[in-house]
Amino acid sequence: MNEHPGARTGAQARVGARAIPMSPLRGSAEFLKGFVRNPAQVGSVVPSSSRLEQRLVRNARVAEARCVVELGPGTGGTTAALLKALPGSGRLLAIELDERFHEHLSRTLHDPRVTLELASAERLAELLQSRRLPAPDAIVSGIPFSTMPREVSERIATLIAQVLRPGGRFVAYQVRAHVAGFLTPHLGEPVKEWEMVNVPPVRVFTWVKS
Ligand SMILES: C[S@@+](CC[C@H](N)C(=O)[O-])C[C@H]1O[C@@H](n2cnc3c(N)ncnc32)[C@H](O)[C@@H]1O
Repeated sequence: MNEHPGARTGAQARVGARAIPMSPLRGSAEFLKGFVRNPAQVGSVVPSSSRLEQRLVRNARVAEARCVVELGPGTGGTTAALLKALPGSGRLLAIELDERFHEHLSRTLHDPRVTLELASAERLAELLQSRRLPAPDAIVSGIPFSTMPREVSERIATLIAQVLRPGGRFVAYQVRAHVAGFLTPHLGEPVKEWEMVNVPPVRVFTWVKS
């Protein structure tokens, strides 16, 4: 997977202020532009619905988490929902591959609990370590396992299973079911659900690491 030159310089969101609500319309316009730039990587024309966001928050048990990782925050709607539920002492590492989405997040998301990284999810383990974050309680992911090169999907799946703490959760929302083929060998059978109130309707897979 391609990596940006700036990928090693993650931006820590400004300390001292909580997440500010982002304009949903502005997020949607940015998101659509991202889809036009790179449809296979972004995988959807509009950001996730609030119904999907709430399902992700519940399934990942974010309210009880100490450390959460988001793979593919996009324009940050899902990130804001995760932050709303995360305890005040929690940490959120958000890893985004698209440079403009990352810039948008850095401009609009100000919360001392969040660390934004411009990088591929393939650098998950290294980024957790360099940011001195504990083994995540939950990883939430919208990155498209169905369109990434097979070896990239395999690498990311292996890392997710490695870094999660025992009892930790991996929650993936996907249009297609390929993600199950990559994660089930590591984490066993997931709980499978559909979220119909989303454009398009998506599958939500939840694994718990034993
Ligand atoms: C379906 S969008 C989800 C965006 C947002 N979380 C939402 O639900 O509205 C998938 C996101 O994953 C990002 N992405 C794709 N491949 C990635 C990778 N290997 N590492 C990190 N992010 C990736 C895309 O740039 C895009 O922002």
